[in-house]
Amino acid sequence: MDFTTRPATLDDAPAIQQLIAAAEQLWHGQVQTAAGAVAADLRRPLITLDLDTRVIEATNGDLAAWAWVHGGRRAQIDVHPSYVGRGLGTQLLDWAEERAREHDSDWLAQTVDDADEAGTALLRSRGYDVLATNWLLERPVTGDAPVLPDGVTLRPFAPEDARAVHQVVQDAFDEWQPRRHGYEEWAGTSIERSSFDPELSPVAVAGDEIVGAVISLDLPDSPDGYVDQVAVRRDQRGRGLARALLTYAALGAGRRGKQTLTLWTHSGTGALAMYQRLGMSVRRSTTVYRTSL
Ligand SMILES: CC(C)(COP(=O)(O)OP(=O)(O)OC[C@H]1O[C@@H](n2cnc3c(N)ncnc32)[C@H](O)[C@@H]1OP(=O)(O)O)[C@@H](O)C(=O)NCCC(=O)NCCS
Repeated sequence: MDFTTRPATLDDAPAIQQLIAAAEQLWHGQVQTAAGAVAADLRRPLITLDLDTRVIEATNGDLAAWAWVHGGRRAQIDVHPSYVGRGLGTQLLDWAEERAREHDSDWLAQTVDDADEAGTALLRSRGYDVLATNWLLERPVTGDAPVLPDGVTLRPFAPEDARAVHQVVQDAFDEWQPRRHGYEEWAGTSIERSSFDPELSPVAVAGDEIVGAVISLDLPDSPDGYVDQVAVRRDQRGRGLARALLTYAALGAGRRGKQTLTLWTHSGTGALAMYQRLGMSVRRSTTVYRTSL
């Protein structure tokens, strides 16, 4: 079969979204990527569609594969399950590396679903290094009410907590985050998001200080509750606060009709073992690969 390769246009977004959904359905029995995610990605300021994207079409009009390179440093390549094994991924990887070189980038990274055997094999055969692993964890939304140590209470996030929660989260994330996020940057990606869910974002209070917090998002199309950030102040760790905060968020998600509570964590945080002790299990994982150019 013949294929043609061309830059993507915004009109391709639904077909690209369907391609990704077909792969996720095959790997996980369900679609994970939020509706509209591809359209939003194609509109990102760093993307020039002609230069930074490619789609491959089959002669019957099927969108067989696509790729993009963001900022010259991050690539994403997806091949439709019906078209795996025809060299389309290799062709797009060659293109992505070339595009990154045009950006004068000296490395290129890609996050690949661990269920994507073809993609994983391709990157390994090209000598890509493993940088990190990300895990999507889930736990039930039923169970006993949170148990708190003496002197600690939980309540939902209130707007006046914003500065204190920023402080607790960033102090905790400083342990592994390459760069501290200032208040505005943190707020823009958490409490100012339209999906931020204050009611299911508990703070832990000891005396009159906030010593722990969970930031939850409400993703209306998803059957899952979703926690975006978990942090407990160093001097309060090991007392069950993370357990209590997550239980609070989980039971709240259950009352909203969600089926599980989910969150992503990565190998840099060292928190996987903790989440597993809390009864969370891995639903899926991805690996970040990187090569020098
Ligand atoms: C991860 C963090 C939230 C844990 O908070 P915490 O209040 O100390 O956790 P808890 O006391 O509720 O511990 C829950 C369970 O996990 C265990 N645990 C805690 N930290 C652990 C670790 N690093 N490794 C393995 N197990 C751990 C505890 O022993 C406890 O198990 P148990 O009840 O069977 O004894 C806290 O250490 C933190 O803020 N870290 C920095 C920020 C961070 O990495 N957040 C997660 C990003 S995804």
